[in-house]
Amino acid sequence: MAIQISADQRTFTLQTKSSSYQMAVDAYGVLLHLYYGKKIEAENLEYLIYKSDVGFSGNPVEAGKDRTYSLDCLPQELPSSGVGDFREEMIRLYHEDGSCAADFRYEGYEVVKGSYEIPGLPAVYDTEQETGETLIITMREVSSDIKVKLYYGVMEEENVITRSACVCNCGTKKVVLDQLLSCNLDFMFGTYDMIYFYGRHAMERNLERVPVKGAKVEIGSRRGTSSHQYNPAVILCPPETTEKNGDCYGLCFAYSGNFTARAQRDQRNQTRVQMGIQPDQFRFVLEGGETFFAPQVIMSYSSEGFTALSHQYHDLIREHICRGPWKHAKRPALINNWEATYFAFNKEKILKIARQAKELGIEMLVLDDGWFGKRDDDYSGLGDWFVNEKKLEGTLAELSSEIHAMGMKFGLWFEPEMVSEDSDLYRAHPDWALQIPGRQPNRARYQLVLDMSRKEVVDYLYNQISDVLEKASVDYVKWDMNRSVCDFYSSKLPAERMGEIPHRFVLGVYDLAERLLKRFPQLLLEGCSGGGGRFDAGMLYYAPQIWCSDNTDAVNRLDIQYGTSFFYPTSTMGAHVSAVPNHQTGRITPFATRGNVAMAGTFGYELDLNLVTDEEKAMVKEQLAQFDRFYDLTHEGDYYRLTAPKEGELMVWEFVAKDKSKAVSGVVKTDAQGNPLPLHVPVAGLAPDRKYHCSYNGSVHTGSVWNNCGLTLVEIPKEYESLLIEWTEAE
Ligand code: GLA
Repeated sequence: MAIQISADQRTFTLQTKSSSYQMAVDAYGVLLHLYYGKKIEAENLEYLIYKSDVGFSGNPVEAGKDRTYSLDCLPQELPSSGVGDFREEMIRLYHEDGSCAADFRYEGYEVVKGSYEIPGLPAVYDTEQETGETLIITMREVSSDIKVKLYYGVMEEENVITRSACVCNCGTKKVVLDQLLSCNLDFMFGTYDMIYFYGRHAMERNLERVPVKGAKVEIGSRRGTSSHQYNPAVILCPPETTEKNGDCYGLCFAYSGNFTARAQRDQRNQTRVQMGIQPDQFRFVLEGGETFFAPQVIMSYSSEGFTALSHQYHDLIREHICRGPWKHAKRPALINNWEATYFAFNKEKILKIARQAKELGIEMLVLDDGWFGKRDDDYSGLGDWFVNEKKLEGTLAELSSEIHAMGMKFGLWFEPEMVSEDSDLYRAHPDWALQIPGRQPNRARYQLVLDMSRKEVVDYLYNQISDVLEKASVDYVKWDMNRSVCDFYSSKLPAERMGEIPHRFVLGVYDLAERLLKRFPQLLLEGCSGGGGRFDAGMLYYAPQIWCSDNTDAVNRLDIQYGTSFFYPTSTMGAHVSAVPNHQTGRITPFATRGNVAMAGTFGYELDLNLVTDEEKAMVKEQLAQFDRFYDLTHEGDYYRLTAPKEGELMVWEFVAKDKSKAVSGVVKTDAQGNPLPLHVPVAGLAPDRKYHCSYNGSVHTGSVWNNCGLTLVEIPKEYESLLIEWTEAE
């Protein structure tokens, strides 16, 4: 049983394969959080709570003379505003009389089979083979008709508990929801670090680890998207936790808009951790009968370090977030024309790139930005999703059928949420762009953002894009999003509802994606936001792969893919071989290294293969064959990070088959020194008692030897050179 409930029906223990989570309703109906960690028996843990009279931490009236009972000290599941818990709340709301108080007490529970859905939002889903279980706890506000349902989805095999919350204004008086986070986690004991992934455009997801102390540690986004600057996924762990050892807790937000993730120690050294929609730009009006559903947080715990935690997230995302026919099907190796041509192409140039790519074995051509409207640079054309027949010397259907006739698939770039002021769409509907009357809007990349909170805007995009996809038989769409969002104002909403736009915007994006996928079920979507500006579990529900970064430099990519891999499987990371000197960094790396790095992702090329040497052309063929051969490893295997960026001269990673029959390691020399020191390649994940042959030195050892002793390189690679080393089970 994944959800165990005590005989008195007041203690709830959620059991996964290796973790337990417990909460209990106390004498006053407060829902206490008692435990999250390594698997235990479902015994009541209320004895862990230490109560004492704490000065300036007040007491609810029901406690009478008991001055040791204070909401300000108790670990809780739903800390609320204005009633005596002075720490960060999970829910904050304003009543019609202007008061900001919410005191939620237990009302009842319900257990439902399977996972739960969230209207209009992505959520972890159950497959037919396995069944999750969901506990829904209803909390009632003591002095008004507001209820909150707390959702706990237990994915037993996956070691995952999902969290969400739904507020219902069950009365008749208006309520303003000023904040609703998706989860609150109070650790009574322990010292924690928070690990998060920060960065910037083209340098996403650098790991940073900071201790959580009395000052709040908070990351998040107010950019309308999850952002390049902070990824919506964090790890909490004791200071001693490493890749291979120790407790760690992941919180991963299945949402693509503004978010916060924060942690802070309170006066009693308890640590409160929260994740949800960023409250600063959030305000939802709930009239009587209206509800609001918070997006889902995916929590996972491991007692065996970050690698094991990552494996849990990778399996979960591959199996229970990614959907559709491309979930496990082999994705096509593609050629994208962006870095080959930028905006300067015509039909012949594209066909020439496609022909050469096809000859070498590439399976799909992706036509990037510049094929539509008036778009020869990034100053115009966005929103006009009809082909530029002059530039393409004919219809898109003609180009697409020529590509298809070569035996290749055809993919196309869109940036649905955007509009250029110099476009027919903007001229016809200036009010469809987010801008505040009487104020100049902020331009970014010289473009404005469409008001995706409006149904007619989403309908227009759906019709326009569908029309293109249908007429040109498009197999794949790269859905881009190239700026941060501000100037939130919608001419369709009353003033008091302007705070709803950032969330309604995200709902509009999801709605458009869902409708397009319904209409074109075979379509492969690749997410993108200037590379990795919207790389999150929310988008992965629609697009099983996301362009990982606009930075295609193989050496920088090692760091970016390293950071991305803590939560997201390599099967979701768009990665391409591009030209040298690299367009972002000017670095020159060997063709083989660019291939080896891109192979730890969804594989493709982004250069004109007519311009490479014959030797490199031969390498393309070899790389494609390797990509096929290793596909089950790189897309379905377990991924091991064996070094960390900037810690030595090598970056090493490894994929091990689920059945442990084989593995492949990638090794890149990232730094060079004279009079070189010996280089050691760590190995992991092989079955200790089985024997493996190593392709590098031809020797055979047991997995336990390889895992513990690794491999010494007999020849030191030159700077940026790389190796792929295969481990195959030997007799
Ligand atoms: C973004 C994407 C790139 C490319 C350009 C086109 O920056 O990340 O890959 O598609 O837009 O304008």
